[in-house]
Amino acid sequence: MRSQNWGAKAMSSSFYNVQKALQLYSSRVTSAQLSRAIGQQLPAFARSPQDGRKLKSWSLQELPLVGEKIGFLRKPTQPVAIATFVTKGGVLKTSLTLNLARLAALHGIRTCVVGLDMQGDITSALGFEANVDDIDSLDSALEQMNSVQGLAQVFSGESTLAEVIQPTDLPTLFFIPETPELVALDQSLMNKNRREHWLKDHVVDPLKKEFDLVIMDCSPNWNRLITNALVACDLLISPVECKINNFRNLKIFQALLSEFRQDLRLGFDHVYVPTRLSPSRKLSQEIYSWYQKNLPVVAKTAIRESVQGEESTAMHISVPEYQATAVAADEMRELLSEIWAKLNTVAPARTELIEELALAANVAESMMGATHVS
Ligand SMILES: Nc1ncnc2c1ncn2[C@@H]1O[C@H](COP(=O)(O)OP(=O)(O)OP(=O)(O)O)[C@@H](O)[C@H]1O
Ligand SMILES: [Mg+2]
Repeated sequence: MRSQNWGAKAMSSSFYNVQKALQLYSSRVTSAQLSRAIGQQLPAFARSPQDGRKLKSWSLQELPLVGEKIGFLRKPTQPVAIATFVTKGGVLKTSLTLNLARLAALHGIRTCVVGLDMQGDITSALGFEANVDDIDSLDSALEQMNSVQGLAQVFSGESTLAEVIQPTDLPTLFFIPETPELVALDQSLMNKNRREHWLKDHVVDPLKKEFDLVIMDCSPNWNRLITNALVACDLLISPVECKINNFRNLKIFQALLSEFRQDLRLGFDHVYVPTRLSPSRKLSQEIYSWYQKNLPVVAKTAIRESVQGEESTAMHISVPEYQATAVAADEMRELLSEIWAKLNTVAPARTELIEELALAANVAESMMGATHVS
């Protein structure tokens, strides 16, 4: 892995105490139960970088170990590749990718995001920015910017896959940045044998050996990178806006997708996610209901239009990290749990600590019962 010369922006040096962690994961565990598990089933609290004294909280780096035990997503039993794609712009593809990636990583699920949109939105959303503030000449700034390598360099053989993977502020989250050369890569794939399979063979399948989850953030334009993403994915997530202008586009998308799937005999699962629902608007509600009745597989939970949704994306974090107790955060957790349940490589039960604690409570109860009888 290449050491980063453009830093993933230090988005949050956040620390999480028991209460904040319970809210983030909306966990059923009580704060007393969680406190008792610290230093045993859960990591000990962090130490202050200044004076080494013990803090009453976990650092962001330790949080995935907590999420793994008390969270709502379980590690897949086999690696999974997800693509977020539909042929409509601005329907929350990237926002969904960001939320899915960060929340999976916060559950200890090793995640790698592959940016496939020339606009570079997921790369920015993951906090990747030109670290050129201290550079005072154009030449040096350009050199710094040009040193970022991505999939095009992997394709040409200039870089290995390991060299283009970048870290983030979470120890379980990595990504391959989008670079302007993606446009050229799209063209180069045209002349390649098995041109729809390049990404699967050279990127996604190798990533699955290192990561539990690979998420491809796609552009709204159906190009060769997209056909590659569809070939490489196990699950396709297509956000659909609860707005009238989505309808015509949706029909065309469904027809194109079905033809492509048949031609290439692809067996990926597909789920539609209603987005930008305005609950107070009758039309928006009617469209939501129409989706529920007419789309083959559609999530019950919709993402509403919300300030928290907009602001959290702008701040490069998931909605529950931004405001854990907001309705928008509940919705996001609910939606991801629903999507997770559709993956057949994930056990449906909740996480270990909850089971352990429930078991301990049962034992205690039955012992009390036994005491009563006697
Ligand atoms: N719940 C929400 N309600 C309203 N706006 C939101 C919400 N979540 C995210 N947004 C904002 O909507 C805008 C578009 O979202 P996003 O970039 O995720 O769409 P997209 O489908 O990836 O777009 P594109 O097709 O251009 O890639 C962003 O500015 C984002 O901050
Ligand atoms: Mg996008």
